[in-house]
Amino acid sequence: MNARYDAVGDAYRQFKTTAAIPVPERRLFHDLLGDVSGLRVLDLATGYGLYARLALAQGAAEVVGVDISAEMVRGARRATAGDEIAFHTADARDLPELRDFDVVTAVWLFNYAQSPDDLADMAAGAAGALRPGGRLVAITVHPAYDAAGPDWIRYGLVVHDVAPVPRGQRLDVSLSTPTQDIPLTVFRWDADVYAEAMTRNGLDAPTWRVPHIPAEEAARWEPNYWDAAVANPLIAGFSCVRGAADPGGAKARS
Ligand SMILES: C[S@@+](CC[C@H](N)C(=O)[O-])C[C@H]1O[C@@H](n2cnc3c(N)ncnc32)[C@H](O)[C@@H]1O
Repeated sequence: MNARYDAVGDAYRQFKTTAAIPVPERRLFHDLLGDVSGLRVLDLATGYGLYARLALAQGAAEVVGVDISAEMVRGARRATAGDEIAFHTADARDLPELRDFDVVTAVWLFNYAQSPDDLADMAAGAAGALRPGGRLVAITVHPAYDAAGPDWIRYGLVVHDVAPVPRGQRLDVSLSTPTQDIPLTVFRWDADVYAEAMTRNGLDAPTWRVPHIPAEEAARWEPNYWDAAVANPLIAGFSCVRGAADPGGAKARS
């Protein structure tokens, strides 16, 4: 995974600024995160830091961004003016030194879990970094996304191959930019895989939400532009709260 994103670097940033997918994605993040005034936020799989910067813009008192790819972390530092966000290269499954955050965000992390156990290890990392009562906010591949349904090509994502795996699917996709396509492999996991991963680690079961495209935003596009996205949502977000009990079950505190 790290090697893949080490190679992607600036192309991914170009995708985020030219494709349509980030429009509903940013809106969903904004709505799920809400006002974080005065709170400490940890952004997992921060990439070039887009959502770390948005968390700061939504009032966070302190933001830390973490990514497994050293190249993405270098890009995050370049893209972020000043030093108000600390970026670290680290695996979200192993964050022993990051503790007691009020909110942990994870945009496009869990879809890289290669198995339900891997997803539970990521959930353990997130739960271990939260204070009791803290909140995980995530965006990932919608558990009910249908690769045979209305496609997302116009929004910048092409699905090339779909393979069943136990309790989910492996999707070989590419992200389209004006200059190149970025090939990626992601996983769509069933909703109960997420529920199990979260509850095993002291978080409550996810409350799922799909992006809402406000009328003023929709008006910027041709009529019916977002119909496929509404008919076959690929992006979904959830939030869940860490209970008072110590998270256990996986590697978070080993
Ligand atoms: C699609 S990018 C999303 C970046 C950012 N969240 C955004 O939406 O702009 C996925 C990121 O997840 C990172 N990643 C994948 N597995 C990870 C892991 N186990 N721990 C930390 N980062 C991971 C990749 O290096 C990559 O930067």
